[in-house]
Amino acid sequence: MHDDTQAARIQQAAERLRNSHKPVVLTGAGVSKESGVPTFRDAVDGLWAQYDPSQLATPTAFMNNPKLVWDWYEYRRSLTSTASPNLGHRALADLERRFPHLPLITQNVDDLHEQAGSTNVIHLHGNIAQNKCFFNCQGDPTLIDVSTVVWDKENGPPTCPHCGRWVRPNVVWFGEILPADQLQAATIASRQADIMLVVGTSGLVTPAASLPGIARSAGAFIIEINPDYSAITRIADIKLDGPSGEIMPRLLAALDT
Ligand code: APR
Repeated sequence: MHDDTQAARIQQAAERLRNSHKPVVLTGAGVSKESGVPTFRDAVDGLWAQYDPSQLATPTAFMNNPKLVWDWYEYRRSLTSTASPNLGHRALADLERRFPHLPLITQNVDDLHEQAGSTNVIHLHGNIAQNKCFFNCQGDPTLIDVSTVVWDKENGPPTCPHCGRWVRPNVVWFGEILPADQLQAATIASRQADIMLVVGTSGLVTPAASLPGIARSAGAFIIEINPDYSAITRIADIKLDGPSGEIMPRLLAALDT
């Protein structure tokens, strides 16, 4: 790709954004990659290489082997807890200064958007730093602060102080329903948007993957930022090729010129 062409597309995207009244952002794992958080499909190395994440991130996997799934999440937490926002997160937070209350819909379970300063983050897939009762015995979600629970780490996850059953990460697993309030907020924001920036997602996992289509059907202009081809690329009006930590700051700079 010749960079002049890319520069022209960045200008064009900036022009669209400048005239936007209601932009919305959708992000995926690619945005956190430059912070050292591997994408979901990358997050299997060393000890975990033998496991398929899609086989671990399910309620059935947890029921069959709670310790295995819990330990895998402890490993993933060790990767996210030390990460800091990168230039892509920061540029998206800067965009909110121009567009107050900018809805930022994310599939990421880290809190790097919030750490960068975004305030209106819609988390479709939960929060890896939190835990809840597997049965949500006190209501959905029944969050449990595991730092207050004593348990034998060699023998699996902690147990719920209310009902004595397993505690699990507060994330959405394959086959599970998304948090209704977050999904509703994301759908409304997508329908109302005049521009959707789609950053760092493969667009393979629904219902998040259907949001760009919803936005486009309602008239939004779709700008995609991704170094690779994705399932969103075919409906993108402008595709900016490259890592979000490089492209987002360039887009922000172009917005101010
Ligand atoms: N900048 C932007 N995009 C990037 C970068 C980067 N530096 N590096 C990789 N990407 C792109 C990849 O090309 C890919 O299209 O990020 C995307 C990551 O895709 P996935 O790993 O499938 O992540 P995501 O789309 O967020 O997955 C959705 O599926 O894995 C489950 O629940 C998990 O929330 C996740 C959901």
